[in-house]
Amino acid sequence: MTYTVTPYCTACKYTDCVEVCPVEAFHEGPTMLYINPETCIDCDVCVAQCPVEAIFAEDQVPEKWTEWTAINAQECENLPTISAQKEALPTALTLDEIKALDADGKWPPPASE
Ligand code: SF4
Ligand code: F3S
Repeated sequence: MTYTVTPYCTACKYTDCVEVCPVEAFHEGPTMLYINPETCIDCDVCVAQCPVEAIFAEDQVPEKWTEWTAINAQECENLPTISAQKEALPTALTLDEIKALDADGKWPPPASE
């Protein structure tokens, strides 16, 4: 199995998740982070750290985002790992704000991905 970062990370990158990962499984892209299935040891600790609930165990990824497990694996091939927390992106929103936009079909924002 592995864990998957889904589009609620987009434009946020809170990076609380990387602080707790024991194996540097996170890789950083310009708009979001991704989890490398080759290094992730399925410890589950990152899930609760994400303030916008962007991380899921592979078998619990919401239906509309199931393709993101493969996207995570793909993106990690060419992106650097990230192991220290840094400031969130200036575009970061709260979970409630993201959920409202998502409900209106406006997430992720068009400028990302
Ligand atoms: Fe890292 Fe554990 Fe999250 Fe996998 S489940 S990305 S090993 S913190
Ligand atoms: Fe993204 Fe959440 Fe980590 S917003 S960077 S998955 S803490």
